[in-house]
Amino acid sequence: MSSYKIAVIPGDGIGKEVIPEGIRVLEAAAASAGVKLSFTHFDWSCETYHQTGRMMPVDGLEQLRGFDAIFLGAVGFPGVPDHLSLWGLLLPIRRAFNQYVNLRPVRLFEGLQSPLANKKPGDIDFYVVRENVEGEYSAIGGIQYEGTDEEVVLQQSVFTRKGTDRILRYAFELAQSRDKKHLSSATKSNGLFHSMPYWDKRFADMAEDYPEVKTDQFHIDIFTANLVRMPEYYDVIVGSNLFGDILSDLGPACTGTIAIAPSANINPEKEFPSMFEPVHGSAPDIAGQNIANPLGTVWAAAMMMQHLGNQTMHDQIMAAMEAVIREGKALTRDMGGTASTQELGQALVDQIASG
Ligand code: NAD
Ligand code: IPM
Ligand code: MN
Repeated sequence: MSSYKIAVIPGDGIGKEVIPEGIRVLEAAAASAGVKLSFTHFDWSCETYHQTGRMMPVDGLEQLRGFDAIFLGAVGFPGVPDHLSLWGLLLPIRRAFNQYVNLRPVRLFEGLQSPLANKKPGDIDFYVVRENVEGEYSAIGGIQYEGTDEEVVLQQSVFTRKGTDRILRYAFELAQSRDKKHLSSATKSNGLFHSMPYWDKRFADMAEDYPEVKTDQFHIDIFTANLVRMPEYYDVIVGSNLFGDILSDLGPACTGTIAIAPSANINPEKEFPSMFEPVHGSAPDIAGQNIANPLGTVWAAAMMMQHLGNQTMHDQIMAAMEAVIREGKALTRDMGGTASTQELGQALVDQIASG
């Protein structure tokens, strides 16, 4: 019997509400697939920060290292500045475990209504491949002449050749494996003088290795407009840490709700555990009301099983999700229904049990 050790970090806000549903669904699928999953919970969160001054213990990353995967809810809550909570927990995990690929699928499901006119399932079906450990996300920089009229803040971006090439390579390989074989790169090489022209050049050079892949490049400003105007044009999108982040909220918004979108933080070499989470955050505005949509977390759970090599469990979870959405069973408010978080979780468990 295959068995996997999963580290679970529910985190903050609705992270604590959606993760239990993700686990319920995983357990149902594991029971039917004859797989053993063991879950170890870590209550690291903004509450930990208030108690200890840290988001996780000093040896937190060491504690996670031996797991097969990490399953995370959301990090950040009012009361702790976001840059401190995120640089105290989520971002160090991505970096320490070299999870340099952030894979974020975007799909319009049958049964959900796109806010864009005349879009039907099949029209929106693409991947955002986001660079996940460098780029604009950097703690390099600082403030000078603080408190004076000359005060200046510098924020450094970092684009290494290794880091740029490996994310581009992953995106080209993914595009090559798909029917449309179409890869679009998001940059801003008219305004950002060094980093973005560099990315464009690496992209153009690598395209020569993939003659079958159709490529194009758009500046991020018009890219966001195009994504709304003609989402069906896109197949695989590759972007830096910041641009990939922006496009991966915009894309799911075009599919009816950001709350179904998953995020796989992948270390492709499997030297370290990868991390799976919903794209959304801790949603303080609805936390504690039992109305959060758990589907982003559930889809992330399916991606986790696929990453661990269990395609059967992945397919089973996805089929349950598709059926529940298609039949309009137990949908939460963001999808036009009235169900609670747990009712939707239960509908998925029932769907899996019914085969
Ligand atoms: P958010 O994603 O938490 O919420 C944005 C909007 O979407 C809110 O109106 C919220 O109610 C709604 N929403 C989000 N998830 C939902 C769900 N599952 N079901 C129904 N509605 C949902 O983004 P934000 O408001 O910018 O951030 C809130 C906090 O979360 C901040 O501290 C931020 O830093 C953090 N954050 C963390 C992550 C992460 O852990 N990966 C991601 C994004 C934001
Ligand atoms: C996400 C989030 C994070 C990011 C924040 C909370 C640092 O928005 O996972 O998309 O930008 O990576
Ligand atoms: Mn984001």
